[in-house]
Parts: sequence; C-alpha cells; structure tokens
Amino acid sequence: METNVLILGSGGREHAFAWKIAQSPKLGNLFIAPGNAGTMRCGKNVALDILDFKAIQNFVLDNSINLVVVGPEEPLVKGIRDYFEAESALQHVRLIGPGSIGAQLEGSKEFAKKFMARHCIPTAAYKSFTQNELNEGLRFLEQMPGPFVLKASGLAAGKGVVIPEQLEEAKRELQEMLSGKFGSAGDTVVIEAFLKGVECSVFVLTDGKDYFLLPEAKDHKRIGEGDTGLNTGGMGAFSPVAFCDTDFMAKVKERIIAPTIQGLQAEGIPYKGFIFFGLINVDGNPFVIEYNCRMGDPETEVVLPRLENDLLDVFEDLFTGRLGEISPQFSHEAAATVVVVSGGYPEAYEKGKIIHGLDKVADGLVFHAGTQQRDGEIVTAGGRVLAFTGKDDSLDRAVSMAYAQIDQICYEGIYYRKDIAR
Ligand code: AMP
Ligand code: GLY
Repeated sequence: METNVLILGSGGREHAFAWKIAQSPKLGNLFIAPGNAGTMRCGKNVALDILDFKAIQNFVLDNSINLVVVGPEEPLVKGIRDYFEAESALQHVRLIGPGSIGAQLEGSKEFAKKFMARHCIPTAAYKSFTQNELNEGLRFLEQMPGPFVLKASGLAAGKGVVIPEQLEEAKRELQEMLSGKFGSAGDTVVIEAFLKGVECSVFVLTDGKDYFLLPEAKDHKRIGEGDTGLNTGGMGAFSPVAFCDTDFMAKVKERIIAPTIQGLQAEGIPYKGFIFFGLINVDGNPFVIEYNCRMGDPETEVVLPRLENDLLDVFEDLFTGRLGEISPQFSHEAAATVVVVSGGYPEAYEKGKIIHGLDKVADGLVFHAGTQQRDGEIVTAGGRVLAFTGKDDSLDRAVSMAYAQIDQICYEGIYYRKDIAR
C-alpha cells in the first residue's frame, strides 16, 4: 500500500525530510504544512497552523494521510500525539514523535535532569531554582567555580541558555531569568556545572524498546566565525564527526542511548520518534548536554543525505516492532551544510528579499528554510534562508561544494559563515 505523508514544519529540516521521503517507491502523496519554496518541489504545501490539531485532523482525514512526520518540538510538547491517540477517527494514522510526557525530555530541562539522575546517565551536576528560591540560587552560584551555566527550564527557541564567566553577571542573569527574561520558560532555572570538551549530536529513531541509529553530526551554533557572537538555531553542520569513532560510540550506546530508552520504558513513557542527544566529549567520555524530542536543524540536512535506508521503510518498521532488526546503512561519503541567513539574524532582520541565481544551483542538495514563492520569484521569509549541502569522499571537498553553490546566489543582506567544518 502506498503511504500518504504529511510533514509538519517549514524549515531546512522539513525540506530534507521531504526530499528524502520523495525518493521512496512506497510514497503516495506528500504534503508539507506549511512548508517553504523548496518543499513545494517535493510535494504539495498546505497552509495549516501546526499547532491547530483540529485543522490537522481534518486535513489528515480528507486526504487519507497515513503517516505524519512532526518536524519541530512545539506540537510534540503541546501534545499532538496525545491528541491523535485520543481521537478514534485517527487510530490508523501513524505519527512520528513522542507524546507530551516523552517530549518533556526537551520541553523541561528540569524533567530531563531528574530523568538522567534516576537512570545514572552522565550529565553535568546541577540544581534548579524557582522564583521564590532566588536567594538559594544566588548562594549556590557563590559556592561554585565559573563559568556559570544557567538554563531556562522550558522551551525558549534555543535561546534559553546563558554561560557568564563572572559571578556578578551570573547573579544578574539568574535574577533576570527568574523575573521573566525568557517568559514562563524561565520560571524554573537549572544551574549546572560547566563541562569542558567538544560537542557532537547523536540521533536515534526509537519505538520505545529498540532503536535505529542515524549518522552523527556536529553543528555550529554561533553567528560569527571562530564560534563568536550570539547563539543561533545553527549556521552549519557536518557529518561524520572524527572523534565519534567505534570506541566513543560504544560508550554513547552503553552509557547514554540504552539507559535512556530503558529508562523511558521502566517509567511507562511510550516513545515513538526521534531522540536527539546533544553530547559533549570530556576526555573521551560522553555526557548529555541536552535531549531533543525531534531531529536537529541544520543537522538533518547532513544526516539524511548520508542515510541510505528508505526512510518510509524505517518508519514502517517503527510501528511493526521490527526496528531492532534493520541495520542502518550510512554512506561512506561526508556531508557538510552551510546555512545562509538574513542580514541581522539572529536579531531583527528584513524579509521579502528576492533570491537570485537559485536556478543555477544543482537541484538536489539545496534545502530551503525561510523562503517563499511570490509572483514567480523566490524571496526570503525567515532568519535562516537556505542550507547548501555538499557531499563527497572528503569532508574538505564536501565543504567546498557547499560554498561553490552559495557563490551562485545572492540577495540583499546575505550572510553566512566561511568557516563551517574547517
Ligand atoms: P543547550 O540548549 O542545553 O544545548 O545549550 C546550548 C549550548 O550551551 C550547548 O550547545 C553548549 O555549547 C552550551 N552548554 C550547555 N550546557 C553546558 C555545560 N554544562 N557545560 C558547557 N557548555 C554547556
Ligand atoms: N541545531 C540544533 C537544534 O536543532 O536544536
């Protein structure tokens, strides 16, 4: 039977999902809501609000959708799976992503920290504080060495982590966070020990019992070259990551992936979806920096080009209990993606700039993020605009391919980092 798929989201990640799923011989119709100017070339964009579950239900039923792939975290944290499970008309529809409790791994840093403590999963030591515990929080900071890692516990669009070097600044930050700097996301603040090491991201798809490992990746979070300036959603990524060798990955599986999935199972938290482990390698040992309940963006733009399995097959196995039986096939080639953004991002930026030259770029590995089709032209419609992925035996050449593609395009205010994967 053919699978009719609806992908929720509008970023480079969702374009990469659409591109990969469109290659499957099992695909019937593909819809992306709301999508962007790139996803239109893989399927049909539909103007749906991804938080309007009733509207999504109607669309799913009207279009005989049997698989829903949820790109971003917000619908998951807000319970889209719980909604689908509660509606009798939707029982036959498969949805990729955990329920709202499983999504708390990302939606509440405090929940994630407590979960890791219960299951002895290596992570930085921490303590959390609410508004009426400000004084205890300030005293806690005084007793620890810097740098000081402060995290708003709730969802803050990737902006809720600050790492001041100085005690006075850390105290001021704690005060501001607890008084609403990140809205209610900062009602609880997690303060944790600073870990010194190199970061990487590991992804699995799990049915709550077994898991399918995807290629690992590393992203560049800061806006400026040399990892300087403000944090962004991600300015580029590459895969594979040299230090994620067999030895390191064996530790990741044994100390982090397996106990996480066993922990979910032991606590009766069903989980059918992606887990993104944000890790840090401290002297050869992996620690969890954060969990996400979805794939990464822009990591997906290098992970999926390296995955050789048919993604619809893998999703099928997720629901038939066969996930543990298939072996992940990764391309031996490396992939690198460079994100081009709107001038001003991640602060205020203008939209609606005409993007020239896209027709000159070889189609396959250009993933659209903040783009829109308008009067026959493609214009910018977000902070992160396009992700250019190169793929080659050598990572160096993959990176050069990505930059060579970027040289073909231009729009007013274009900015990108020149040092991705270098
Ligand atoms: P998060 O949103 O939790 O991934 O944090 C954002 C970034 O802050 C991470 O990618 C790390 O670079 C940094 N970070 C978070 N927690 C720690 C920590 N305990 N030690 C050092 N760096 C951290
Ligand atoms: N690139 C980081 C994220 O998707 O959270």
